[in-house]
Amino acid sequence: MIKIVTVIGARPQIIKAAAITRVFRQQYAGQIEEIMVHTGQHYDQNMSQVFFDELEIPQEHYNLQVGSGSHAKQTAAIMVALEEVLLKEKPDYLLLYGDTNSTLAGAVVAAKMFIPIIHIEAGVRAENKTNPEELNRIVCDHYASLLFYYTDSALVYLKKEGFPLDNKAPFHINNPGVFLCGDIMYDNSLYFREKANRVSTTIASLGLTDKPFALATAHRDINTDKPERLLGLVQGFDAISKAFDLDFIIPLHPRTTKLLQSAENAEANAVLQANPKLHCIGPASYLDMVALESGATLILTDSGGVQREAYFFEKPCIILNEETPWPELLEHGSTLLGSTQPEQLLACAEQLMAVKDSLHYPPIFGDGKAAEFIVATIMESHG
Ligand code: UD1
Ligand code: UDP
Repeated sequence: MIKIVTVIGARPQIIKAAAITRVFRQQYAGQIEEIMVHTGQHYDQNMSQVFFDELEIPQEHYNLQVGSGSHAKQTAAIMVALEEVLLKEKPDYLLLYGDTNSTLAGAVVAAKMFIPIIHIEAGVRAENKTNPEELNRIVCDHYASLLFYYTDSALVYLKKEGFPLDNKAPFHINNPGVFLCGDIMYDNSLYFREKANRVSTTIASLGLTDKPFALATAHRDINTDKPERLLGLVQGFDAISKAFDLDFIIPLHPRTTKLLQSAENAEANAVLQANPKLHCIGPASYLDMVALESGATLILTDSGGVQREAYFFEKPCIILNEETPWPELLEHGSTLLGSTQPEQLLACAEQLMAVKDSLHYPPIFGDGKAAEFIVATIMESHG
């Protein structure tokens, strides 16, 4: 029996964990024991528990309840509490997803306890170390023993950063194994799409059944923490809504909601209030989000997950940033870098709306079986 401690904490990690835990339970019961540790980085019902319920994830064994805080406080609190759990559980591996502070904390603690790390979503780089996620994923990759990367662009970075790519077992922190796997988020999108469209009521509850709408999300610090950028974003949404007579569904991350309520963002808030076609709602559940993505005419987002899901559901997408850690999205004409300037956002929307029915979405994120490959590879590497 292999014992794996999985660390989750932020919304997308809970969603990612669903794909892997499904394979553990359905195909490796009796061979893998998974101990789930939720750091408590995200804690609101609609940022955490809703995903356990909807995505059929077993309830976590531990909740470290660290909550929100500065980068240092949050990361340190996770480290201290996680060390206790790892001392008690003595796992064969620590499994980490993505690039949040929960990922960083897990990587530092496990590496110093000589617990081999499995990193899923390795090699993602935006070539920008002012981005907190970039720092987190660089550390995690370099402390990992098994790295699973989604697309070829990651391999370029891993090569550049000196990872051995010959994959000669046994794998350990000084001789990591590096494997192309496809995107586990794509696994989930395929798995839950039919159910999402059957059960979700969000579109109908907004009176938008059979009406075209855009879906927009924004939560990156670079956008939320700079009033001029947040204002530019919502002015862009407003301009696109008016130019195309398009409703916008905007499931706001709590970070964005809180900042929009502050005095320095009063103008942005006023733009949202003034246009009845801009519908701000709370964070959507995963099934609601999948229904929104598959029903949208256009998606605007700064989310790493949502920009890829737009592609999975074959939707034109404007990235609300000057960069993306997923450069392959830009190669097929369906995804544009829109920044946060209203004029540029409108120009991107005009460009995409003109060609939206003739866009192509070649498969670049695997075959929907990434999780099966990952778990089989872990078993094989373990010997
Ligand atoms: C974090 C990740 C980011 C990821 C995002 C996914 C880091 C550094 N960032 O960003 O990579 O894309 O999660 O959503 O780890 N809040 C609540 N309720 C919650 C959670 C958060 O109100 O349940 C509010 C708090 O005011 C908090 C703020 O949101 O201070 C930011 O939360 P935090 O987890 O620090 O970062 P995210 O912006 O969510
Ligand atoms: N998501 C969700 N509800 C929302 C916004 C996003 O369920 O209101 C899902 C989305 O479909 C994707 C994941 O959360 O699967 C992406 O997470 P997020 O945007 O929080 O973070 P990122 O991917 O940027 O790290």
